Amino acid sequence: MIGEPLRLVVIGTGYVGLVSGACFAEIGHHVTCIDNNREKVELLNGGGIPIYEPGLQELVTRQREACRIEFTTDLAKNIKNADAVFIAVGTPTGRVEGEADLQYVFAVAEELADIISDDTVIVTKSTVPVGTGDKIREIIASKRPDVSFHMTSNPEFLREGCAVMDFLEPDRVVVGVDSDKARAVMGRIYEPMTNQGVNILYTDIRTSELTKYAANAFLATKIAFINEMADMCEAVGGNIEDVANGMGMDHRIGRNYLSPGPGFGGSCFPKDTLALRKMGFDLDVALNVVNAVIDANDARKRAMAHKVIAALKGDIQGKTIALLGLAFKANTDDTRYSPALVVAEELRRAGASIQAYDPEASDQAKEVLGVDNITYVASLQDALKSADAAVIATEWDVFRALSPQEFREQLKHPVVVDLRNLYRPADMKEIGLEYYSIGRS
Ligand code: NAD
Ligand code: UGA
Repeated sequence: MIGEPLRLVVIGTGYVGLVSGACFAEIGHHVTCIDNNREKVELLNGGGIPIYEPGLQELVTRQREACRIEFTTDLAKNIKNADAVFIAVGTPTGRVEGEADLQYVFAVAEELADIISDDTVIVTKSTVPVGTGDKIREIIASKRPDVSFHMTSNPEFLREGCAVMDFLEPDRVVVGVDSDKARAVMGRIYEPMTNQGVNILYTDIRTSELTKYAANAFLATKIAFINEMADMCEAVGGNIEDVANGMGMDHRIGRNYLSPGPGFGGSCFPKDTLALRKMGFDLDVALNVVNAVIDANDARKRAMAHKVIAALKGDIQGKTIALLGLAFKANTDDTRYSPALVVAEELRRAGASIQAYDPEASDQAKEVLGVDNITYVASLQDALKSADAAVIATEWDVFRALSPQEFREQLKHPVVVDLRNLYRPADMKEIGLEYYSIGRS
C-alpha cells in the first residue's frame, strides 16, 4: 500500500495505543507496541486483546500474522532504528483541581532520554496540556544534551466503540511540528491515508495540543446544550428530537452530538474539560463556557436519578430497580465517568436495590460500585424480573431490540425511565407502560 514502510514504536497499548498501533500496521508500517504492564503484553502475545473494541481483535490478529505488529515490554531494545516513537500512555485527571496527571508521560520522557539516538522523532498521541511537548523536550534535553531529536504533537480523535474506523478514516489528522524532518516523517506515516483523501492540518506544537482540547470541549458543549433544551421541552411540552433536527439541519450547526441523554461520560470529555478549565485558570483566561458545561453535566447525571425517583412518585425506599447499561455509552466496556454509575450510586443512597445488566461492562462497574445493594445479572431478562422500574442508561442495541411487551411481562410495576430515548412513547403507552424519556413530554 505504501512505497517504504516505516518502523514505528507506540508506547502504551490502551485504547489509543493499541488501536493506533494496529491501524498503522494495517496501512503498511512495521509497529512495535510497548507496554510496561507485563500481563497486557502477555495477553496480546497470546492472541488476546485487553479491551472490548469492535473489529480490533480481527485487525490485531491479521497484523500479527502478517508480522507487521509485535508486543513487548522492552523499549530500549526496540527504539533503535525507529522512524518515530509515539507516546500513547494515559493522562488521567490528577489530584489538583482537574489538572491532567502527566506522571506517565514524563516517566516515558525520562526513559526515552536514557536510550534515545540522534534524529528520533517523538510524537505525543496522548491528550496533553499545552506546553507538554516543551516539557518533554526539556526533560530529554537536560539529560541528553548530546542528541538532537524532534518533538511532534499528533492528537488522536478516535471514539471508543468505533475506534478502528475513526482511526483509518478520520475527518482530519492534526500534526504539530517545528522541524522539517518531523513534518516529512509524519507526512510519510500518514501517506497511505492522505493518498485516500484524508487531510493533514499542520500547525505548531502548542496549537495542536490546544486543538485537541478545543474539539472535545466543543462537542461536550453541544451535548450539555441539547440536554438543557431537553429540559426546556419537558417544561413547555415540546419534542427534543424535532428541536435537534430543526437545529441540526442548519449546516452551520450540524446534527451530530445533539442527542440528549443522561450527560456525557467516558474517559475523555469529563477529564479533558476539567484539564482545559485548569489550564485557563492557571493562565488567567476566563473559560466561562467550559466551566458551565462541566457544572451542568455533573448536575445532569445526578438529576437523572431524581427523574427515576420522581417516576416512582418519590417512593424509592426498598424498591428494586432494573438498571440497563453501565458503560458510558454503547459498544464499549468502559465505565469511566459513566452516568449510569452516578445514577446507581444515587438510587442506592436513596434506599433502592439495583439489578444491573450490561453486555460488556459489569466487571468494570463492580470494581467501582462494589456489591452493596447491587447485583450484576447475566441477562437482560434477569435484570427486569420483578423489578419496580426499569432504567435505560446506555444505548446498547440489545436494549433497543427489546419489545415493549417484554417490559410489561417481566417488570413488577410497569415503569420505564429511558435516559437514551430508545423507544417511541406511543408504543410504550399503548401497552400500558408508564414511560418517561428525555425531552419528549
Ligand atoms: P489507557 O489507560 O487505556 O492506556 C494507557 C496504557 O499505557 C496502559 O496500557 C498502561 O499500562 C500504559 N503505560 C503507562 N505507562 C507506561 C510506560 N511508562 N511505558 C509503557 N506503557 C505504559 O489510556 P487510553 O484510553 O489509551 O488513553 C491514552 C491517551 O489518549 C490519553 O491521553 C487519552 O486522553 C487519549 N485519548 C484517548 C481516547 C480514548 O478513546 N480512550 C481517544 C483519544 C485520545
Ligand atoms: C470522545 C470524542 O468523540 C473523540 O473524538 C475523542 O477522541 C475522545 O473523546 C477522546 O478524546 O478520548 P468517546 O469518549 O469515545 O470519544 O465517546 P463519544 O462517542 O464522543 O461520547 C462521549 C459521551 O457523550 C458519551 O457519554 C455519550 O453517550 C455522550 N453523547 C455523545 C451524548 O450524550 N450525546 C451525543 O449526541 C453524543
